[in-house]
Amino acid sequence: MIKALRGMRDILPPLSKKYLYFINTAQKLAQNYGFEYIQTPLLEETSLFKRSVGESSDIVGKEMYQFIDKGGNDVVLRPEGTAGVVRSFIEHKLDRQGKVFRFYYFGAMFRYERPQRGRFRQFYQFGVESFGEKSVYEDASLILLGKSILDRFHIPYRLKLNSLGCPNCLPPYKKELVKFLSSCEGICEDCKRRRELNPIRVLDCKNPNCQEIYKTAPKLKDFLCPECQEDFSKLQTLLKKEGVEFEIDENLVRGLDYYTKTAFEFVSEQLGAQNALIGGGRYDNLVEMLGGKPTPAVGFAIGIDRILELIEYEEGREGFYLGALDKEGVEVIFSLARKKREDSKVFLEYKPKSLKAHLKSADKLKVTTVGIVGEEELKSDTIWVKNLVTKKEEVIPLEKFLELG
Ligand code: HAM
Repeated sequence: MIKALRGMRDILPPLSKKYLYFINTAQKLAQNYGFEYIQTPLLEETSLFKRSVGESSDIVGKEMYQFIDKGGNDVVLRPEGTAGVVRSFIEHKLDRQGKVFRFYYFGAMFRYERPQRGRFRQFYQFGVESFGEKSVYEDASLILLGKSILDRFHIPYRLKLNSLGCPNCLPPYKKELVKFLSSCEGICEDCKRRRELNPIRVLDCKNPNCQEIYKTAPKLKDFLCPECQEDFSKLQTLLKKEGVEFEIDENLVRGLDYYTKTAFEFVSEQLGAQNALIGGGRYDNLVEMLGGKPTPAVGFAIGIDRILELIEYEEGREGFYLGALDKEGVEVIFSLARKKREDSKVFLEYKPKSLKAHLKSADKLKVTTVGIVGEEELKSDTIWVKNLVTKKEEVIPLEKFLELG
């Protein structure tokens, strides 16, 4: 038997219904915040991710689904959404318009990680990316959008916040950190690699031994330039004013190399080891790094697979069930269903059955209204109707049935 690949899964009803319910709600809220839908390809040139997500990241270092296509191109199944959106933003010359652009997207991402609860090799993200807005109000707005999506589904969370500095203050800090690291004995192999490629990534190493060592490391917050400091404290003031609770996590450096200034994560206590629900932050240098005009930007992505675990979704009664007591009646309900389906959800039973059997099926299907055509109704162009919520029963003309809400 052929099965889905390890770390990849089918999303069937009822989970698929929850998926759509989440997408519809999240996209409505993103639209309320001024974001518009963007769709970019699943396959991109490998160099796009090397230059954006960064060679020091686990994603580029170990986890990419990378291959040479039939045309000899070095390509990757996208491990995340930001890089592709930035590529598109530059390719379509939106960086030259001097305007603010806000996009949202959702879809599959691919990372060759070790599968476990909440971690898949094909997983789904809902992301937003905002371009051209330098103001820290935008960072705050995005965090509020993230919060409002989680609140909408009654999902408890902890919000972690950090500032990763800018090209003025980060390099001197990195220098100090490298100096510190070169005096450290016993850091893990991953950290040795990170030390060379992007030293601040050592700070979120999960190895307890490394964490112990880094307790005495120089702190980035002591190196932030006045602008970064001011923005970070303004962000905190804005969030406090809006009643958003957060904690500062100095080790929150994010697993992707493109971040500057604000970095944040919403985590859940109910998810086990893979507890990050939303990750995001500012990436003011990325557009320029990928060849565009310097453009400030900020975004986040929600892990849909993880959020679905926490959403409670009970489907209410909806729509119609049409059945007949004999073969002739089936002809009638078949036509009736075609018309009714122009505006309503209709379950159509092709097999003639007893009234009792129809009512049992209709109840299981969670419809609101049952319509049955029997011998009497056939003669008079009518239909027997029962509302399963109000329990009201009546016989009405077929045309009247089409008007039922
Ligand atoms: P990220 O932190 O790598 O950020 O991923 C965002 C979210 O995707 C995570 O918090 C998690 O919920 C989910 N996720 C990541 N990997 C997996 C996996 N293997 N299985 C299931 N869920 C997963 C980014 O991807 C950035 N592009 C976010 C961003 C947008 N930053 C700025 N704009």
